Amino acid sequence: MLKDAIEKVLVSEEELKAKVQELGSQITRDYQGKDLLMVSVLKGSVIFMADLMRAIDLPCTIDFMCVSSYGSGTKSSGVVKIIKDLDLDLHGKDLLIVEDILDSGKTLHYITRMLADRGTASIRIATLLDKPERRTAPLTPDYSCFTIPDEFVVGYGLDYDERYRNLPYIGVLKREVYEK
Ligand code: IMP
Ligand code: MG
Repeated sequence: MLKDAIEKVLVSEEELKAKVQELGSQITRDYQGKDLLMVSVLKGSVIFMADLMRAIDLPCTIDFMCVSSYGSGTKSSGVVKIIKDLDLDLHGKDLLIVEDILDSGKTLHYITRMLADRGTASIRIATLLDKPERRTAPLTPDYSCFTIPDEFVVGYGLDYDERYRNLPYIGVLKREVYEK
């Protein structure tokens, strides 16, 4: 079973649900009168995006981009490759970049600088998880749901080698899974 690869549950389904609702309410207050465009960074943020957008009571648009910085390891390579760019015109938009996890910060540092050149009115970052201990790029999230220790986690969209995204909670993967 899927859960056999999990050492422990770090954030439960209930905690995820409550926190995402709370963040949705906060974004609803902060983005009154703005032209909100939610940008999901594929694939890890899809579940967070789907839940967060339904917790926001404002007209908004969404778009997706796909970048790769990882391959099949557990450490960022520092090389960010754009696999799918955004479809929408960003002029005058208030961008909210929705990320699964902020680790070294290299990926988002690169993405935010690239998108800021396209005439956006503002850019903010909403991350589900933050691992501040591992930060090497100068980046702080505007919204963060959970700060976690330096452990490799999966579930609620996050993967190890493309698996475990469908776990409904955030769990720490057993070392034996990625060290074999
Ligand atoms: P960064 O560029 O080092 O901040 O890497 C960010 C990306 O690395 C995230 O969007 C994830 O796809 C991946 N990542 C970092 N830490 C983890 C983890 O603990 N589990 C799963 N993916 C992770
Ligand atoms: Mg990933």
